[in-house]
Amino acid sequence: MLLSCKLKKNETVVDNVPNKKWWKEAVVYQIYPRSFKDSDGDGIGDLKGIISKLDYIKSLGVDVVWLNPIYSSPNDDNGYDVSDYRNIMKDFGTMADFNALLKGMHERGVKLVMDIVVNHSSDEHEWFNQSRSSKNNPYRNYYHWWDAERGKPNYRYSLFDVNHDAWKYDSVSNAYYLHYFSRKQPDLNWENPKLRQEIYSMMRFWADKGVDGFRLDAFQFAAKDTTFPPFPKGFESNFIQYYAMVDGLHDYLKEMNREVFSKYDVMSVSEGAGRNFQDAHDLVDEDRNELNMAYAFEAVDIAKPEGYSLLTLKNVFTKWDSSFAKKGWLSIFLANHDQARIVTRFGNDAPEFRELSSKMLNTFLLTMRGTPYIYNGDELGMTNIRFDKIDDYRDMQTLNEYRYQKSKGANLKDFIHRLGFESRDNGRTPFQWDTTTNAGFSTGSPWIKVNPNYTTVNATAQEKDPNSILNYFRKLIKLRKDNDVLIYGKYTLLDKDNPDVYAFTRELNGKKILVLLNFKNKNSVANTGIDLKHVKPLINNYTTASTRESLRPYEAVLYEL
Ligand code: GLC
Repeated sequence: MLLSCKLKKNETVVDNVPNKKWWKEAVVYQIYPRSFKDSDGDGIGDLKGIISKLDYIKSLGVDVVWLNPIYSSPNDDNGYDVSDYRNIMKDFGTMADFNALLKGMHERGVKLVMDIVVNHSSDEHEWFNQSRSSKNNPYRNYYHWWDAERGKPNYRYSLFDVNHDAWKYDSVSNAYYLHYFSRKQPDLNWENPKLRQEIYSMMRFWADKGVDGFRLDAFQFAAKDTTFPPFPKGFESNFIQYYAMVDGLHDYLKEMNREVFSKYDVMSVSEGAGRNFQDAHDLVDEDRNELNMAYAFEAVDIAKPEGYSLLTLKNVFTKWDSSFAKKGWLSIFLANHDQARIVTRFGNDAPEFRELSSKMLNTFLLTMRGTPYIYNGDELGMTNIRFDKIDDYRDMQTLNEYRYQKSKGANLKDFIHRLGFESRDNGRTPFQWDTTTNAGFSTGSPWIKVNPNYTTVNATAQEKDPNSILNYFRKLIKLRKDNDVLIYGKYTLLDKDNPDVYAFTRELNGKKILVLLNFKNKNSVANTGIDLKHVKPLINNYTTASTRESLRPYEAVLYEL
C-alpha cells in the first residue's frame, strides 16, 4: 500500500511504507504471571495481582501484553505443561478473573496475547491419560508412540530431560513416548487431523473471548518425521537443524491461519524463526498466509559469561534487518522468561553503570525496526540474582541439567557460576514494586527468592525520580509513537567496524534519526562523519548535555538530522 504523508514544509511526498499494521506499531510487554504480583498471599503471582497493576502497565505506554501460559497445569515447567487448555491454573485464579483482566486491559486500550503451548501438552492432560492407557485408545495417535516390540527407537535429544533422552518408556502399553522437553511434556502428534482440529477449536475459544493474539511456543518443532530415522552422532549440538521446520509444518500453519487467524483481528508470533532467513520468511511473509512475525534467537545467544563482541551483535541485527528490509516483519528482543536479565547479560549491572546501561539497552530495543518485546522488570533495570546454591533454583530445566552435569562428573562449581549468568530463574525473580516485605510482590513466602537489591531497585522509587530508568523508558515509548520513522523507517548501520559504539540511522519520508549507543564502560568515539554541532538531541540517557565529541560510558543519544 502506498501512503502519502505531509512534511513540515507542506509538500506531499509519497513513500512506499508497506502495509501499516497495528502489530507492527505495537510495543509488547511480556508478563511472567507467576512473578508479577500476588494478590492472595500464597507467594505466587496471579491474575488478580495483574489486574491490580493495570494502571501501571497502561502508564508504560505499551500496547500489548503477552502473558506466559495461565492454563491449568501441574507446573512441571511453570505452565508450559498444560493439562487443560480451556481453564485457568488454580494458582493464578479463575476464568472470572481472566474475563475481568481482559476487560480491564481493553478498557485501557491494551491488547492481550496468549501463549499457545501445543508442541506438547502435560502428561496429566486427559488426552495423554487416554493415549497411554492402551494401543487401541482413540487418543493413542494424539502423541508419538514407539512400540517396544520394535526395539529401542533412534536417539532423540531432549532439551530438558535429566538424561537428555527424549524417549520415555511407559510400561502401561509397553511403548516409548516422545518428549523434546521434559518427561512431563509429551509431544503432540500434529499428523493427526483430529488433534489439529481440537487445537484450532481451543484457539477460537480464546479468540471468541476477545484475546488479540497468539504466541506459538516451540512450534517450529511441531512437525516430525515420524519414521524417526537415525540422526548423526552429536546432532544435538545443532539440533535446530534437525528439529525445526520439518515437512508438514507450513501446512499446519496455513491450516491454522485459515481456521483461526484469518477469522479474527489477531497477531501471531512464533517462538523461533527456523534454520535460516528463508525459513523465517516462509513463516512470516504476508503472501504465505501463516504468521505475522517470528523471533530469532541468534542475537540473544551471543551473550556469554566471558562477555560478547558488539561487532557480532551489530552484524546479527543488521543482517536480519537487511533480509527483512523489503518483505516480512521482525520482532526485536534481548530477553524473555527463558533468558537472564538484559542489564546483566548485555549491559553492566555494577552499581555505577546499571542505570545507564539499562537505559542504553532499552534505547536500542525501542529504536530498532521491528516490533519490540520488553520483558517485565527490564523497564526498571532488574538484575540477575546469581544464586550461589543449587537449592535456590526452581527451574526444572536448570535442576535437571545440574543432575545431568553431576552424573557426567562435571565441575559443579563452574556450572553454578555459569547459572548465575544464564539460568532462566534470573529473569523470574519477583517483580520489584517497592521497599516493603518481598518487594511488595507478596505478603506470603515467594515461590522463588526476591532479589535483595529491591530496596534500591523498585518501581515506587523510580516513579518519583524523573530521571529513572522507568521514566526514561516511558519517554522512549512516547518518542517511538510520535515518530513513525522509528517504526517503519529504513535502518542503516554506520561506523560498522567500531567495536564500542552501535550507530545507525532510521529514515522515512525525508525524516532521519541518528541513534548513537556506547556499549562500553569508557568514553568512546562514533565515527559517523555527521556534524552534530548544531543538532539538538531528541533524547539522552545522561542528564547533562552531550559532549558530541565522544560518548560517555553507556551513553545513548538520538538526534534528528
Ligand atoms: C519454550 C518456552 C519455555 C518452555 C519451553 C517448553 O521455549 O519459552 O519457557 O520451557 O518452550 O514449553
